[in-house]
Amino acid sequence: LAASEFQQRLLAWFDRYGRHDLPWQSPRNAYRVWVSEIMLQQTQVTTVIGYFERFMARFPTLESLAKAPQDEVLHLWTGLGYYARARNLHKAAQVALAEHNGELPTESIDALVALPGIGRSTAGAIIAQSTGQRAAILDGNVKRSLTRLHALPGWPGKPIVERKLWALAEYYTPEERLADYTQAMMDFGATLCKRSKPDCLSCPFNDVCLAYAQGEPKRYPESKPK
Ligand code: ADE
Repeated sequence: LAASEFQQRLLAWFDRYGRHDLPWQSPRNAYRVWVSEIMLQQTQVTTVIGYFERFMARFPTLESLAKAPQDEVLHLWTGLGYYARARNLHKAAQVALAEHNGELPTESIDALVALPGIGRSTAGAIIAQSTGQRAAILDGNVKRSLTRLHALPGWPGKPIVERKLWALAEYYTPEERLADYTQAMMDFGATLCKRSKPDCLSCPFNDVCLAYAQGEPKRYPESKPK
């Protein structure tokens, strides 16, 4: 599928059905997007919203987070789980304050990945949404959508498969509307190309999706071999 065709269809879908009123979308800055992405790593959007708003009310800036006692940060995380995320977030804020003048280093993927708790996909999500620079994402939702679209065999955790998925993710990433495109990919995987009940009849790609053509979209992605 031509990248421009993919982008056009995805963004048209997003304009109609995507999420446009998430709290980290306005005001949008690197700090708010970062906190949201860390919360969203293992937790659904509807749960994250309330935690995000309380967190921002208490820690409105990266500096305020860096200077807070760790137990206050953990307290605001209570119920979200995966508490290493909160400890890494706190530590990363302190590193950014000490080494990057109190700003997140959004000039490069590598500078972000050097901070605790930020992997390649999260770094891409932060850069695309906060700076509008071209950066690809590949979280679980995106892996599922792309393996289905291309009927890509193999477990996505396998290095060769993961390399192919990154190549596809890079290929489809547009030059413009990066924040919308990134949110659109997340929303598409979470609300339409769902793991157990994909809504193929409403999908803007059902005429080109190879997994749909094979009649069994749920076969993808393959699970981890035992
Ligand atoms: N998962 C990770 N980032 C997300 C986002 N921005 N929206 C929805 N789900 C996500």
